[in-house]
Amino acid sequence: IQPASTYNDDLRLAHVLADSVDDQTMSRFKAQDLHVETKPDLTPVTDADKAAEEAIRGQLSRSRPRDAVLGEEFGSTGHGSRRWIIDPIDGTKNFVRGVPVWATLIALVDEGEPVVGVVSAPALGKRWWAAKGMGAYMGRSLASATRLRVSDVSTLSDASLSYSSLGGWKERGNLDDFLGLTEDVWRTRAYGDFWSYCMVAEGSVDIACEPELNLYDMAALVPIVVEAGGRFTSLEGEDGPFGGNALATNSILHTEVLHRLNPGLDDLL
Ligand code: IPD
Ligand code: CA
Ligand code: CA
Ligand code: CA
Repeated sequence: IQPASTYNDDLRLAHVLADSVDDQTMSRFKAQDLHVETKPDLTPVTDADKAAEEAIRGQLSRSRPRDAVLGEEFGSTGHGSRRWIIDPIDGTKNFVRGVPVWATLIALVDEGEPVVGVVSAPALGKRWWAAKGMGAYMGRSLASATRLRVSDVSTLSDASLSYSSLGGWKERGNLDDFLGLTEDVWRTRAYGDFWSYCMVAEGSVDIACEPELNLYDMAALVPIVVEAGGRFTSLEGEDGPFGGNALATNSILHTEVLHRLNPGLDDLL
């Protein structure tokens, strides 16, 4: 029996939204006629990204007409304290290249706090989800889920770190600090995208970090990591507002990693 959450109904809706786009996006994965465009920021977007976001927005406007919505492909609509945040396909580059590591990310943010998160990765056959106060879970439905718990690794030399790409650390001015950290952990992997953070929640990775990440890349991941017992902050250690960059750990290692990535800010942490 799962503990109740104030956001039970919203979590249920997020699952319905994910169910409704999983088949649609799967049908476009590896499709011969997949249409790929290049956005002004030179990143790719496909017909599948746009169709998934449109479908989710359509259902939200019927089920939650008063809530605001922010999506990667169609921007922001509405105002108010409750806002749904959608990344229709996180890992578009993987999607385009036929790599199964991509997911639809759906989150509800209430008064600035991410309170519901569903990460649905149909090509991996996985779904991770959480609601505030309810715990974090993995499984395709509410009925058949496994509760998630972060690791208890307490030293960097035993820790596994996952990231997405090396770009961005240079701009942040601390590529050397990041590389130094990767040398001192047990192992470093680039699982990328949503996967690194869901693996922190599962306890199979201990540290995930990213110097460039938008709100829609991370909103769904925050409750999944936090409800699994982890900590999710900016790279500077702020608990919100989210957006910009991200650090998720099993909690135990958080302060040490913050010190390593902000050597000049020791007194502030
Ligand atoms: C991207 C992925 C990638 C991260 C980029 C994101 P998209 O999202 O999350 O791992 O490094 O910053 O933009 O474009 O595939 O949704
Ligand atoms: Ca994108
Ligand atoms: Ca993304
Ligand atoms: Ca995306």
